[in-house]
Amino acid sequence: MPATEMQQLVSLCQRRGFIFQSAEIYGGMKGFYDFGPMGVELKNNIKQSWWKAMVYQRDDMEGIDGCTIAPAVVFQQSGHTETFTDPLTECRDCKSRMRTDKMKDPTVCENCGSKNLMEPRNFNLLFPVQVGAVEGAQSLAYLRGETAQHIFINFKNVTDSTNRRPPFGIAQMGKMYRNEIIARNFIFRVREFEAMEMEFFVPPGTDEKWHEYWLEERLKWWESIGVPRNKININDKPKEELAHYSKRTFDLEYLYPHGYDEIEGIANRTDYDLGSHSKNQDELNLTATPITNTRSNAKLTAQNAEGQHYVPFVIEPAAGVERAMLAVLCEAYTEEVLENGDTRTVLKFKPHLAPIKAAVLPLARNKPELVALAQSVKNTLQKLGLGRIVLDTSGNVGKAYRKHDEVGTPLCITVDFESLEDGQVTVRDRDSMAQIRLPIAALAQHLRGIVEDAA
Ligand code: GAP
Repeated sequence: MPATEMQQLVSLCQRRGFIFQSAEIYGGMKGFYDFGPMGVELKNNIKQSWWKAMVYQRDDMEGIDGCTIAPAVVFQQSGHTETFTDPLTECRDCKSRMRTDKMKDPTVCENCGSKNLMEPRNFNLLFPVQVGAVEGAQSLAYLRGETAQHIFINFKNVTDSTNRRPPFGIAQMGKMYRNEIIARNFIFRVREFEAMEMEFFVPPGTDEKWHEYWLEERLKWWESIGVPRNKININDKPKEELAHYSKRTFDLEYLYPHGYDEIEGIANRTDYDLGSHSKNQDELNLTATPITNTRSNAKLTAQNAEGQHYVPFVIEPAAGVERAMLAVLCEAYTEEVLENGDTRTVLKFKPHLAPIKAAVLPLARNKPELVALAQSVKNTLQKLGLGRIVLDTSGNVGKAYRKHDEVGTPLCITVDFESLEDGQVTVRDRDSMAQIRLPIAALAQHLRGIVEDAA
């Protein structure tokens, strides 16, 4: 049974070290979250799974890691300084700020019910920053509002250094920043988050075929991390809702506890961005900055078989890591009533996503020979490189099982007094709770089978 209430996840995530409100000891900063010991592992595992599917398992892909700050000219050329806005209104009575496109009734304040609202205005979501010691328009830059632009502005560098020609893609994962008017629904809408974005460059005329192709590929990946197709609605976005660069976009909408909402957008960006970064910018009135030129010196084109230059079209699957995490947590969250009437909470992650792959538990913490054997089992399994293995010396096996159920550890391995005699340990499976005895020498293969087969 997936989580149906966001609060179930919020409290588990705080209690077990997945997700904390950022700057919590100062009262917390809205729309910003830090990831704890379990959260960082889950996040890394999701990203690794994406990178593996998008880069390693393909022959038509390169990866990059661009800066998170870009000079103003990049976002002027991409259209973001102009159009990356949400409609904002403010209540004159209680001073609440709201996004009018998300309000049930845009004439009534959601907070106090007043009708004394300001005329909506377009609020730009980019965070401006000053680069260098001199402040002013001359040194204006922005925290990136999408990672995609660093792929476009590196198009020539990548094609020159790899000899790639369309169809091929460039993948990137990393932080991005949006000054959202209202951050809400836990980590669903935040102001700092990570994206997993890929720009796939294709000859014009083949773009629609590739767009359909990537829709299928992405649905398969979501399924592989435990987010089933029947929980995803494909929204072929109406023309009036398309971003300024898009010819057609499929939004994948997952059924979160607050309802269906976007988990990934798969857009046909046409030749908009490459074209725009290669324009003769003498004609444009851009902010002059000493940190870069206002003109790009590149023609971002590819050559066809006849040697003619053309601007490739781009298909872009773009997913948020936090939204992926939230969906994975929702799907994994399970409450089960046991035979004795107790309720067990367990996160049934796909094993390759689990923050801890196995916990090794000595039956008693004050028996050095048990702890030493458990430590050596831990060290051996750690060397397999499957992810985090922990030695849990709390000495209370029942409590440890409950804790590891709640963080989704696929296997608990208990070292007891018999283990010292017969070289066998008790292996408990997270989902079935079944326990089997296995020789220590067989553990590596057993764990590999569970963690690797699922990846
Ligand atoms: N380059 C295209 C692009 O940025 P987007 O649909 O605006 O497209 C991509 O964002 C993905 O990033 C979304 O599908 C969503 O998963 C995630 N995302 C967007 N805004 C977010 C926010 N404020 N908090 C968390 N994730 C967000």
